[in-house]
Amino acid sequence: MKILSIVGARPNFMKVAPLHRAFVNHSGIESKIVHTGQHYDEKMSDIFFNQLELPKPDYYLGIGGGSHTYQKANVMLAFEKILQDEKPDIVLVVGDVNATAACSIVAVKMGIKTVHVEAGLRSGDRSMPEEINRMITDVICDGLFVTEHSGLINLAKEGIPDNKIFFVGNVMIDSLIYFRKKATNSTILEDINIASKDYILMTMHRPHNVDQEKGLRDIMQIIRYATKHKKVVFPIHPRTLNNYKKYKLYQELEKINNLILIEPQGYLEFLKLMDNAALIITDSGGIQEETTFLQVPCLTFRDTTERPITVELGTNILMQDLNPETVKIKMENIFDGKAKQGIIPPLWDGNTSKRIANILFEKY
Ligand code: UD1
Repeated sequence: MKILSIVGARPNFMKVAPLHRAFVNHSGIESKIVHTGQHYDEKMSDIFFNQLELPKPDYYLGIGGGSHTYQKANVMLAFEKILQDEKPDIVLVVGDVNATAACSIVAVKMGIKTVHVEAGLRSGDRSMPEEINRMITDVICDGLFVTEHSGLINLAKEGIPDNKIFFVGNVMIDSLIYFRKKATNSTILEDINIASKDYILMTMHRPHNVDQEKGLRDIMQIIRYATKHKKVVFPIHPRTLNNYKKYKLYQELEKINNLILIEPQGYLEFLKLMDNAALIITDSGGIQEETTFLQVPCLTFRDTTERPITVELGTNILMQDLNPETVKIKMENIFDGKAKQGIIPPLWDGNTSKRIANILFEKY
């Protein structure tokens, strides 16, 4: 069985790495990787291939950034040619980035069995580009692998037949478990002169938060409040950096005391930063899950989440009204010893990729 897995952007790499490992270790499966190149910097892409022990992709499309239509259209044209040459038995897509939706449309139209890992997640917010990608992908795919209970409910509501759906757990947590020990060797804490549990880690990149001046100012206000408690470490995403420069706010950001602004980090460095943080403030999807597994408090600067299990069982708290004052109050509660104690969701056990490999081999 030949499986072609697609990666496009940073959050895909740690999901495909354990799947590729499980496929290679399965005697009946051949595994190839296509990288569409939505993320292309060394810091956003190459370092992940090295650290996650992923081979060089078999195909690199080099599509880069641009409008979502530009990205998707170019991915689709280039991917069609690859499918004509490779004729895989299965195309596997993960997550909710532009490559996920673009490649699944092409593969399904060409009559190739297509499966989606991390299916069924819904924020209910159609203004998020990822929500549209999730819906398109799930409605057309032949196999849907689900990370949490809400995914089963959402897919049932959308009328997807049961026999396409498999509750398998979380491949992102497979990577975290596999690499957690190795990450302890990272020297990132010494490199930026911080001590374990003595800093707040921050990431922000969602268009809703960083594409307008108000959001950029709100983030600075959150940082000002946070730095009253502890140092803040902020690996800044290219979208966010570009926008701080565009609105001429970058100098103001840089000047905030106790803020440590750094480049996007590699997987191992970032895992070490998460594992040792006193608190994480983010608008990422995946980080909500990783902090739940690591049992580190997480404040999510979004008013919805497609990953409700992280709020129900985990350490995640959503900032309903996206107001820096709310973050301030929640943060103070956490530093007053009232942090949420979470538990690890079912099947987030490091074996999800193996389960998926077995299902694909036996049922597809
Ligand atoms: C994308 C995903 C999002 C994911 C995020 C993680 C979609 C719709 N969104 O958003 O789900 O959480 O990645 O990072 O697919 N850029 C660089 N260097 C790079 C990559 C991007 O400079 O290596 C620039 C781009 O040119 C663009 C900006 O950063 O100006 C944002 O990139 P974009 O591809 O729009 O997506 P993300 O915001 O990263």
